[in-house]
Amino acid sequence: MTFNGYLYLLYLGLLTLIISSSVLMMAAAVTDPTTLVDHTSLNRSNFPKGFIFGTASSSYQYEGAANEGGRGQSIWDNYTHKNPEKILDRSNGDVAVDQYHRYKDDVAIMKYMNTDAYRFSISWPRILPKGKVSEGINQEGIKYYNNLINELLNNGLIPFVTLFHWDLPQALQDEYNGFLSPDIINDFQDYAEICFKEFGDRVKHWITLNEPHSYSMGTEPYMASHNQLLAHAAAVKLYRTKYQDSQNGSIGITLNCHWFLPFSNDTLDHQAAQRALDFMFGWFMEPLTTGEYPQSMVSFVGNRLPKFTTEQSKMLIGTFDFIGINYYTSNYAANIPYSNNDTSKPTYFKDTHVNLTTERNGIPIGPRAASPWLFIYPRGIQELLLYTKTKYYNPLIYITENGMDEINDPTLSLEKSLMDTYRIDYYYRHLYYISSAIKLGVKVKGYFAWSLLDNFEWMAGFTRRFGINFVDYKDNLKRHHKHSAHWFRNFLKKD
Ligand SMILES: *[C@@H]1O[C@H](CO)[C@@H](O)[C@H](O)[C@H]1NC(C)=O
Ligand SMILES: *[C@@H]1O[C@H](CO)[C@@H](O)[C@H](O)[C@H]1NC(C)=O
Ligand SMILES: *[C@@H]1O[C@H](CO)[C@@H](O)[C@H](O)[C@H]1NC(C)=O
Ligand SMILES: *[C@@H]1O[C@H](CO)[C@@H](O)[C@H](O)[C@H]1NC(C)=O
Ligand SMILES: *[C@@H]1O[C@H](CO)[C@@H](O)[C@H](O)[C@H]1NC(C)=O
Ligand SMILES: *[C@@H]1O[C@H](CO)[C@@H](O)[C@H](O)[C@H]1NC(C)=O
Repeated sequence: MTFNGYLYLLYLGLLTLIISSSVLMMAAAVTDPTTLVDHTSLNRSNFPKGFIFGTASSSYQYEGAANEGGRGQSIWDNYTHKNPEKILDRSNGDVAVDQYHRYKDDVAIMKYMNTDAYRFSISWPRILPKGKVSEGINQEGIKYYNNLINELLNNGLIPFVTLFHWDLPQALQDEYNGFLSPDIINDFQDYAEICFKEFGDRVKHWITLNEPHSYSMGTEPYMASHNQLLAHAAAVKLYRTKYQDSQNGSIGITLNCHWFLPFSNDTLDHQAAQRALDFMFGWFMEPLTTGEYPQSMVSFVGNRLPKFTTEQSKMLIGTFDFIGINYYTSNYAANIPYSNNDTSKPTYFKDTHVNLTTERNGIPIGPRAASPWLFIYPRGIQELLLYTKTKYYNPLIYITENGMDEINDPTLSLEKSLMDTYRIDYYYRHLYYISSAIKLGVKVKGYFAWSLLDNFEWMAGFTRRFGINFVDYKDNLKRHHKHSAHWFRNFLKKD
């Protein structure tokens, strides 16, 4: 396609999008033709040799087969069945997108896209139905992941494996409240060890936890994060002492962070933006690099913030070979002054004393996707990467998630559902800023788009579509490439 033809199609695509979907509020930055970019001007060759491109997923959002193959119940099975009204479309992950049965088809899609790697998570209750090794290992679960890993490797795809992407065995929730108890540390370590032992001959990239920040938000945050950090450190220590030398792999953790722009030039708003970073990112990065929580958290949360013993601090420092970063969006941060008449119960958000907003003087920070929190601000990924380099000693980084969603609109024709021109634009702009961060010395080694397929989006159920490939929920979960899948195929083509 010619350059002009491409731009024209893109323009038409945006127009149709705006006309056909009033939900997607694309703001001036993207609809103004003068800012349109040639989405073919960037490709694999703009990234360093050996840079890894892939797509990402998670077990509860993808696998289905909830009651098959000896899998135990996870807290997400329990929650969605107990409280269907809490899920936007009253759905659950019982079937999800059925990757458990269709992994071969899905690997073929990855191959079509010319990706190098696949990030997936292991379902803890599929390996340990009751959460603990002493209660029995499910060999059928181990077999499933062996099959998936082998299928990936046979197709030249590198597995990146997350050990915990939120689907905790219900049994551990029942026994001691999961991550609210330090008992989780040993159980997580045991579970991790089985994975290292069974899969570590072929899996060379391990991610202990996915977004401990998000997970903590659903519970008592300070304790849940404290124990997630300690569980992470215990698993890494075990890997390093018993498996790393012989298996020659690397291990890290995936953190999610927004970028924060000061709402105004007021010093207090600049401090608020820094504090927002501390409460979302420093909460984990500081302990992992210095053994302590950020000073701002210590002073704003006070004695409700748990403390590490000297030994725990020492153990935490340096427990990663790489940091996984999930980036989606950015916010404005404004200071909220202290008031001495507030007697209501403290919360994490009140503790931050930051007012996070997505617009200033009526102008959004960027175009909104389907999710109400997802305002598109591609430059934020470069800012976050540069910040991480400077503040946290230039670690090795993989972008482990990045993406945007559209509304699941069952009235759209299949043809229209596949026309995700705005997603191509999203990926183009974020990849551009990543390549630019790399040129500025950030050690980014890989990039995973969220997500390979449309899938079960937690509280939003199936109402949002984050996939680069479309899943037809009305026709037997059939997969179809969206336009962005073809775009990735070209972007990733090797000369
Ligand atoms: C959720 O877990 C509790 C405790 O194990 C159990 O009693 C209950 O039946 C479960 N609910 C569902 C819907 O599975
Ligand atoms: C270990 O992995 C690195 C790259 O991750 C590779 O360069 C090296 O050859 C490997 N060593 C062994 C002994 O497999
Ligand atoms: C902050 O100050 C700079 C330089 O004076 C100015 O360009 C910018 O618009 C100001 N930002 C805000 C949010 O007021
Ligand atoms: C608390 O004080 C602020 C000003 O500092 C005031 O705006 C607010 O109405 C007060 N709230 C209550 C509950 O008195
Ligand atoms: C946060 O900022 C918005 C927009 O400036 C404002 O409407 C809202 O009242 C603020 N909230 C707090 C808690 O300060
Ligand atoms: C990738 O882009 C470069 C220019 O940046 C171009 O020379 C090269 O042909 C492109 N490769 C492919 C496979 O399109």
